[in-house]
Amino acid sequence: MDQNRRDFLKSAFWTSAAIAAASSKSAKAAQTCCGGAAGSMMAYAAPPIKTLRVGVIGLGRGGAGVNNFTYIPGSYVSAICDINAARRNRTLSFLKKQHAPVPKVYGDKGAEDWKRLCEDPNVDLVYNATPWELHVPIALYAMKCGKHVAIEVPSAFTVDECWELVKTSEKTKCHCMQLENCCYGESELLAYNLCHLGLLGEITHGEGAYIHDLRTYNYGKWNDKTGGGGYWNYWRLRHNAVHGGNQYPTHGLGPICMDMDINRGDRFDFVVSVDSKQAGFEELGRARFKGDSEDDKWRRSLKVKMADMNTSIIRTVNGRTIMVQHNVGTARPYSRLNLIQGTRGVLADYPLRIAIEGSLGSGAHVYNDKKTAEIRQKYKHPIWAQADEVKKVLGSVGGHGGMDTFMVLRLSYCLQLGLPLDMNVYDLASWCCLCELTEKSADNRGRSMDIPDFTCGAWKNQKPFGFEAVDFSKLGQNFNTVG
Ligand SMILES: NC(=O)c1ccc[n+]([C@@H]2O[C@H](COP(=O)([O-])OP(=O)(O)OC[C@H]3O[C@@H](n4cnc5c(N)ncnc54)[C@H](O)[C@@H]3O)[C@@H](O)[C@H]2O)c1
Repeated sequence: MDQNRRDFLKSAFWTSAAIAAASSKSAKAAQTCCGGAAGSMMAYAAPPIKTLRVGVIGLGRGGAGVNNFTYIPGSYVSAICDINAARRNRTLSFLKKQHAPVPKVYGDKGAEDWKRLCEDPNVDLVYNATPWELHVPIALYAMKCGKHVAIEVPSAFTVDECWELVKTSEKTKCHCMQLENCCYGESELLAYNLCHLGLLGEITHGEGAYIHDLRTYNYGKWNDKTGGGGYWNYWRLRHNAVHGGNQYPTHGLGPICMDMDINRGDRFDFVVSVDSKQAGFEELGRARFKGDSEDDKWRRSLKVKMADMNTSIIRTVNGRTIMVQHNVGTARPYSRLNLIQGTRGVLADYPLRIAIEGSLGSGAHVYNDKKTAEIRQKYKHPIWAQADEVKKVLGSVGGHGGMDTFMVLRLSYCLQLGLPLDMNVYDLASWCCLCELTEKSADNRGRSMDIPDFTCGAWKNQKPFGFEAVDFSKLGQNFNTVG
């Protein structure tokens, strides 16, 4: 067994122990959430943080966070943590080049060194971009240290973990937001606008997905010297090998929840889910890894539970339906579907198409490219209408076509000004509990699974999601001294 594998097993042991401990507590906690009473995190505004100091853990995807916070006025990266030296050094070089403040560096003291970052008094926000099994333990620890947390997707994987995050956020009054960047995509925010302006009529159905061929990357071998080559110690492949259902539901689902005001007048009721057979991952494993190394033997013989295609349908208490698909294991162009259907029209993506009827009952029989382009321009969301200004202040609107930048900008803005965040811990919990519930449903011939009301009734009288433009004059000092 090589060093990487040993390290993985060690870290997997302590993280599953931590998750198990958290889970046993949370089953009891589930009955007593605040749900709109004093202590609820619904529309919660924390005291403003004039200068936002960010601690980033996990410097793969977290590198994008480092990049964005470095350019956003009023915030800077005060601490970084990764167990991989190459990634720590790469991040330090980037910050040096930007003449940004030099962060405290953690991670060199082993797999639990992130605890020191969470305890660091110079950190206000813990930005958690680690492998999935670390999302919940780090978030719980950080909130208990009094830090707001932002967690990569999916932030949690079981119903119990979701309750534990809700309870801890309510108790500590620390924000716990999922970093669902797709909620800030141009098409997604256009759809949000069309829905809230009433242009699609009454919204009845949505379709979202994560269709992304990740076969090669999942089977890629991590190189500790370079900090690349695949996911760190095959963390994603290992998870997908033992879980069916939809283990990555939020990219397609989050934006539809915005359109439907989920947890703000409507909420999820139940889900049914069906798995296709598994073929794509195992085929690639058998075909590509024929050598004698331990890694090759393991990869070609690995049995994978994840389906090539998982299809789930959620029904809301107000009678809407949402189809969510997951497919990361077959040859197919990227898509999140992004379809939102109302009585008067529809927006569908990949490619973007919009049809809105002219008069009741007619005029939306086919999509029309010219009309789509007109509507796209006319109803651009205020956040995207700001793209030029953002480019001027930040230097670019990079990262997944701009949505990463807008997400981090909004997060930083709301924390600096003491505003409620665009998405809260109840959104995180409702979206992420589907990992467990879709798997249980798919394991049981598509049995219907009830979805908990993590708001404990507070969903009935909440305002729609935030998602407003940013007033740059209200942001703090610029710490990036380049340019
Ligand atoms: N929202 C998006 O568009 C998007 C895109 C990519 C990844 N992600 C999410 O980001 C997260 C990370 O994904 P990634 O692609 O960066 O994975 P990765 O494997 O490339 O990076 C994980 C990093 O975590 C580090 N790490 C592992 N154990 C650690 C520990 N105990 N302490 C500190 N650091 C540790 C590794 O050294 C590695 O640098 C995942 O949750 C993933 O789902 C989201």
